[in-house]
Amino acid sequence: MHILITGAAGFIGSNLAKRLLDSGHEVTGIDNFSYGFERNIAELKPNSKFHFIEGDVKEKSVFEGTSPDVIVHLASQKIPRYSNALKTLDENYSMLKNVVAKCVECNAKIVFSSTSDVYGKNKNLPFDEESDLVLGQTKIKRWAYALSKIYGEHYIIANNDEHGLKYTIVRFFGSYGLHQNLTWWGGPQSVFISKAFDNEPIEIHGDGLQTRTFTYVDDTVEALTHCVLNESANGEIYNIGSNAEDEISILDLATLIWRLVNGENSELKLKFIPYSNFGRYEDVMRRLPNIEKIKKQFGYEPKVHLEEGLQRTIEWQRNVG
Ligand SMILES: NC(=O)c1ccc[n+]([C@@H]2O[C@H](COP(=O)([O-])OP(=O)(O)OC[C@H]3O[C@@H](n4cnc5c(N)ncnc54)[C@H](O)[C@@H]3O)[C@@H](O)[C@H]2O)c1
Repeated sequence: MHILITGAAGFIGSNLAKRLLDSGHEVTGIDNFSYGFERNIAELKPNSKFHFIEGDVKEKSVFEGTSPDVIVHLASQKIPRYSNALKTLDENYSMLKNVVAKCVECNAKIVFSSTSDVYGKNKNLPFDEESDLVLGQTKIKRWAYALSKIYGEHYIIANNDEHGLKYTIVRFFGSYGLHQNLTWWGGPQSVFISKAFDNEPIEIHGDGLQTRTFTYVDDTVEALTHCVLNESANGEIYNIGSNAEDEISILDLATLIWRLVNGENSELKLKFIPYSNFGRYEDVMRRLPNIEKIKKQFGYEPKVHLEEGLQRTIEWQRNVG
């Protein structure tokens, strides 16, 4: 199959591209390097089945000359904690509109990367794919990201109704591992690891009792690959994450990373940052996936335990950080 990946020089995109190339597929990657890195795709470039286009998905012309069977749309703006909600709303729509038009034009399927953030403040845990999506008020700009993804999901389903667009929607729950962005853009792991390397206090937002589940990127990519390659995933939405038993607080994550980097006997250094430092910010206090759907349909099972995944990530980060 010929698979086009937007955001191919990013974290999940580069890992997915490698997995698909290793299985013999042809891959075209697009990235404008706004948050991606040349180093993430360096080992893919010698592969004759890998084609790379440096360009902007907001420009329709970026797809000219390509004829993919599937477009995996990963390029995105994320939670506007430090940046701009308008950019998130504008760019996520502009990019998706172009990807959908290209898919309709060449009868390709879109695999759309949505997020666990769409479940928002829903208190009924764990979240399955039919759970309600409960966002906070519009004056709290962090919800602009979840909203842009919910809009994206509706836009795709409406295009299925009107134009027969083939689609699969995946909702990722925090992934981490090799090629992750080393700033907050990439989530807490990379930032915590860097602080532990430097023996500096790890910054905890709020009291650190908020919980998450984390998925090592190889597992994320395995689940995603099923959704890309299998026609039986068409017209479906899947949570991609870990088992609910792997729930961990951010405080415990920081402690574990500190111990793995600096040893059991090193004194843990933490710095608590109140949410008020981010303006009107609202965190999700518990976020747990139900992944039964993808497990039952494709035999997916997350394999890499958090401690092992963190060890691998720490080793990688020592060499790039
Ligand atoms: N990583 C996670 O845990 C996670 C969780 C939930 C949802 N997601 C979603 O999964 C997708 C991939 O996430 P990621 O962590 O790999 O992100 P990432 O930022 O590492 O990768 C996205 C890539 O898209 C590129 N990009 C952004 N705008 C572009 C544009 N206009 N034109 C071309 N390229 C552009 C960036 O340069 C970057 O390389 C995103 O849509 C994100 O919202 C990820």
